[in-house]
Amino acid sequence: MTATRRSFLKSAGLGGASLGAAAGAAPLLSPAAAAAAAESASGSSGTVPFYGAHQAGIVTPAQDDLQFAALDMVSDSIADLRNLMRAWSTAAAKMARGELIGPVRTGNRPPGDTGEAIGLPPSRLTVTFGFGPTLFGSGGKDRFGLRGRRPAPLVDLPAFVGDALQPDVSGGDLGVQVCADNQQVAFHAMHELIRLAIGIATPRWLLAGAGRTANSRRQPLPRNLMGFQDGTANIMAEDAAAVDQFVWASEPASPAWMRGGSYLVARRIEINLKLWDSTGLGGQQQTIGRNKLGGGILGNVPPTAHILLASPGRNHGQRLLRRGYSYVDGIDPATGGMGAGLMFLCYQRDPRRQFIPIQHRIAGVDALSVYIKHVGSAVFACPPGASPGAFVGEHLLG
Ligand code: HEM
Repeated sequence: MTATRRSFLKSAGLGGASLGAAAGAAPLLSPAAAAAAAESASGSSGTVPFYGAHQAGIVTPAQDDLQFAALDMVSDSIADLRNLMRAWSTAAAKMARGELIGPVRTGNRPPGDTGEAIGLPPSRLTVTFGFGPTLFGSGGKDRFGLRGRRPAPLVDLPAFVGDALQPDVSGGDLGVQVCADNQQVAFHAMHELIRLAIGIATPRWLLAGAGRTANSRRQPLPRNLMGFQDGTANIMAEDAAAVDQFVWASEPASPAWMRGGSYLVARRIEINLKLWDSTGLGGQQQTIGRNKLGGGILGNVPPTAHILLASPGRNHGQRLLRRGYSYVDGIDPATGGMGAGLMFLCYQRDPRRQFIPIQHRIAGVDALSVYIKHVGSAVFACPPGASPGAFVGEHLLG
């Protein structure tokens, strides 16, 4: 039976002594301090099972913190890719249970778990894996022999009006979304997954976020960095019919190995906060189409309001499960203001019917376009969940 991170210090018989002294590493928090830190951590400390019909982290009520990474394969071997997905799945399942992923007392060898989550609860950690289009062949090459198995909905996204995409924060062979109600737990998981990939895949871009878009009626509506509630008209995790219709992939559009999976479109969107802050309240509300404080729809919604043009009524009834997070990243060189934005993450059954037409409808047209700039873009096929002992992507990689 594996020790959880919370019971580890106690079962190691270390009492109040620092583990660092025993392992020859930097001192850690005492168990009492670690427990206090855990209690003061925001949000819930519970467990979200990694294994299941669907991957966790899609209809899981959105946690407080995000770590998102795209990685590129440095190995051309499908056996390495398979081993990575197996190792990642095993580690993710352990971390979701709040367990160490390996022994810590390893003498002169590096610890098997990097240790920064010791003492912290599972914090509703979820890890969601996705495969990017380039994994299925690119530039005339088919490194893994997967070209024939590329799902039709996993298209290369077309250019949209106003796109200012930067290759170094776009694309990727593999996508990893880590969410947790504790920032350090999320960091630890991403740290371990990147470490486990060394020699097989290397990070291409990485972004931390907080302040989620709501996707559940069980959570209060958070506000985005523009001060508006985000997620009001979202597909809610509790809406089983909408989730089935709009989120989970199925045949015939998707291959059998994607049944119960979903397609993730990730867009890194910069927000010109300086310009937004200089806009009157009336203008701000007309941009979104909702009341800033109360969140209600304006009595007279302008034709260019974001919520009108993005709504199902203007998009053949299509909807998205939005699961975005705000991010802050230094100074915006263009404005000298805060460099901040929205890591827009949305899950869907088929981007060709959902994200792509909706984004074509709103890009450059809705009033929000003046304030935002899409600088990063990626799309991933996220396979269904794995059963215990199996791994995510098993039905593709065998
Ligand atoms: C920085 C960029 C963005 C910001 C700040 C933003 C903000 C908002 C806000 C405040 C709402 C109203 C509350 C709610 O229902 O959540 C909303 C609704 C919505 N947004 Fe965005 N959004 C952004 C980008 C996008 C993009 C890129 C898409 C899709 C291509 C999108 C799709 C939607 C949809 C479908 C709704 C619900 C519309 C409805 O049926 O009422 N948003 N957004």
